[in-house]
Amino acid sequence: MKKITFTTIYFLLLSLTASVLMQCRSHSDAASGKEIYKRYCVTCHGIHGDLKTNGARDLNYSVLSLEERILVITEGRNVMTPFKSILSPSQIRAVAEFTLGFKTKADGSGN
Ligand code: HEC
Repeated sequence: MKKITFTTIYFLLLSLTASVLMQCRSHSDAASGKEIYKRYCVTCHGIHGDLKTNGARDLNYSVLSLEERILVITEGRNVMTPFKSILSPSQIRAVAEFTLGFKTKADGSGN
């Protein structure tokens, strides 16, 4: 019986550690959305999302949802490069979430 208790506690601790580690990871991914943007997106979209190099859309006026942005970033669209081989899915989500912040010039409809 003693052995079973030990094993149970061992696996409990193990899964606890794993979930804490995973939370840290997703947290740092979210925090790096801005860093990813600065590194991969400013060349075309500019630091404020309004550069429009190579016909890039002004992200301040984008009405795309988070999921639609993730799709555009993952698969690319016309001139825009696909990022699926460059960024991980969680990095793509983080940078997509960051672009949702470019709404300063939007009409306030919340889209
Ligand atoms: C090579 C230049 C280039 C780079 C680099 C680039 N984009 Fe784009 N992006 C474009 C172009 C061009 C479009 C418009 C595509 C079209 O014509 O359909 C666009 C469109 C978008 C859209 C859709 C906007 C809308 O409302 O339709 C999003 C979101 C977006 N880009 C985000 C990003 C993010 C985030 C990154 C960095 C990970 C990035 N882009 C990097 C050129 C670029």
